[in-house]
Amino acid sequence: MANPTPTPEIVDIHTHMYPPEYISLLSARDTIPLVRTFPSSPDPRLILLEAELPSLERALRDPAAPLPGRPLTKHFTSLPQKLSFMARHNITTSVLSLANPWLDFLPASEAGPIASQINASFESMCASSSSHSHPGQKLFFFGTPPLSAPAPTILASVTHLTTLPHCRGIILGTTGLGSGLDDPALLPILHALADSHLPVFLHPHYGLPNAVWGPRSAEYGHVLPLALGFPMETTIAVARMFLAGVFDAVPALRMVLAHSGGTLPFLAGRVESCVAHDEALAAAAASEKGEKRRRRTVWEVLREQVYLDAVVYSEVGLRAAVEASGVDRLMFGTDHPFFPPVGGQGDSEGEWESVRLNVEAVERALGKGSEEAGMIMGGNAVRVLRLFEE
Ligand code: URA
Ligand code: ZN
Repeated sequence: MANPTPTPEIVDIHTHMYPPEYISLLSARDTIPLVRTFPSSPDPRLILLEAELPSLERALRDPAAPLPGRPLTKHFTSLPQKLSFMARHNITTSVLSLANPWLDFLPASEAGPIASQINASFESMCASSSSHSHPGQKLFFFGTPPLSAPAPTILASVTHLTTLPHCRGIILGTTGLGSGLDDPALLPILHALADSHLPVFLHPHYGLPNAVWGPRSAEYGHVLPLALGFPMETTIAVARMFLAGVFDAVPALRMVLAHSGGTLPFLAGRVESCVAHDEALAAAAASEKGEKRRRRTVWEVLREQVYLDAVVYSEVGLRAAVEASGVDRLMFGTDHPFFPPVGGQGDSEGEWESVRLNVEAVERALGKGSEEAGMIMGGNAVRVLRLFEE
């Protein structure tokens, strides 16, 4: 009898959770990020973003005002719910990560122990998934380092993560130790991650200043901060790393950029041209003594040290990402549990349109069932994140 065609591996590398201890932290806070209950809502509300502050303040003053943030449904916190979402969308393997804003807001003295606890929680979720009802599903995770803690505590956390069998990298925001990812003080941490073969999944949270969205921003919901603020934040963070020479300083560093690199595939040419035409940069390069390695371009860094997720929701953006980084460097993601179906478009147990858009973008750009589509849907993640290795 002929062997059955193997089911293609679908790997979701961009999928978040908040374990119970994180929800307890947020529930005890009265500045963002926080969890708050409102009499008019069955679910508590999760309020994360600076852009949600005006609506939070209005809702606290006026019980009839629209609810701020998003409902904290069990999609954010429940492992069985994650597994059933995966089954619903034929996802065989997920690489979980704590959602934003991670542990960025913790006081220095608390960050280390809380990071250990949260990372252990992710490890045990991954280890226990085989005992749940969907056979064949596998879970891994990106760990969370305690970035507000002193450097030795952060380095100890990286070492801890190397001992957790399901950890395949870390998730990082754009602020680093507080001054961004071009901060020289971050270099020892990036070296430790590179030496430990832990890729960095770079994810936005802070967006752009609220003033950019203008006085009518409340009328536009989450659209401007999420659609434009998030990708610009990622783009700026990576451009700063590039200009500071971080990729050259840590050549073994591997970065996975959320949302297909923000706008980097589209703007890399402009960054390159601005560098090439900058008098001050040219003068600084000319005055450097000794034999210097030729400057690598953004394009080279994109193809040598960067991977992109495929969370871009359109064929056009996906093609740009493939052109920029190569078809062997893109990895499918869902951003679950963000972007659930709304209103009458379906319930959250059914198919999620946000997932379908990303699947269709891959199929349209590369051909449904093609080898290249298979690479993006799972093959690349298996290779890059060593998912079949012990
Ligand atoms: N996606 C995320 O990962 N985080 C948000 O806050 C919103 C969308
Ligand atoms: Zn995300």
